[in-house]
Amino acid sequence: MYFNSALLASLTILAASAPTAFGAPQPASTAISEGDKFGAITIRSGSEIQNSAIQAAQRSLFVNAKSQNATCASETNSATFYIQDQELRLYSSNDPLNQTIFVDRSGMGMGKIGYITGNESLGRYWETKGWALTESNELQFHGTGIQACPGSIDGGWSIWLQGVEKPGYNENCTGVVAAAYKTDDPIECVYTH
Ligand SMILES: *[C@@H]1O[C@H](CO)[C@@H](O)[C@H](O)[C@H]1NC(C)=O
Ligand SMILES: *[C@@H]1O[C@H](CO)[C@@H](O)[C@H](O)[C@H]1NC(C)=O
Ligand SMILES: *[C@@H]1O[C@H](CO)[C@@H](O)[C@H](O)[C@H]1NC(C)=O
Ligand SMILES: *[C@@H]1O[C@H](CO)[C@@H](O)[C@H](O)[C@H]1NC(C)=O
Repeated sequence: MYFNSALLASLTILAASAPTAFGAPQPASTAISEGDKFGAITIRSGSEIQNSAIQAAQRSLFVNAKSQNATCASETNSATFYIQDQELRLYSSNDPLNQTIFVDRSGMGMGKIGYITGNESLGRYWETKGWALTESNELQFHGTGIQACPGSIDGGWSIWLQGVEKPGYNENCTGVVAAAYKTDDPIECVYTH
């Protein structure tokens, strides 16, 4: 995974201060405001996905995939987000290709988190509004955090909303804190779809 040294330093601090049990991360030093660009890492001590950067590929979110295969302004294997009007968007300066995250909390959707590109229309039960960061910069959707499930594509774990034990019939899913960190030098990408 590619990180610049400043980010690596802040991640090291985050890792050192992370609680040993599953729980809220320490308050991040930098507040993230509406429109600010940020990345996010999953926090779950003792797991394979402790401090893994969230990636975007194939209309879904992952951690630990070998490559997200995005087309980016410079090399990166993690996704950059921002929140605008309660929507979670993937950062790209190319507006017609803006990529917006949706959540499907219906019985069929099981907490599916995905993204659409440009003006593509939303599925019947897909919601985009409700994303926010807590005071400690945990990314949540209507107050609910995320979980990760092993055995997905490219060695990755797929990201879902918490609440269903086997989302998409995936086994061994584990609740994680999605800890956002502000990126002062965000990298524009168009993610695969
Ligand atoms: C990235 O591309 C490689 C080569 O085509 C593919 O095997 C892999 O599954 C892709 N990863 C993702 C996360 O889409
Ligand atoms: C979506 O965008 C494309 C390209 O900009 C445009 O041709 C098309 O009419 C748009 N469709 C809708 C439903 O807005
Ligand atoms: C990005 O796409 C979303 C969903 O289609 C739309 O609501 C929003 O206005 C778009 N934003 C920009 C900056 O084009
Ligand atoms: C889930 O965990 C069980 C017990 O450890 C294991 O046998 C199974 O292969 C795991 N499944 C996945 C998809 O990781």
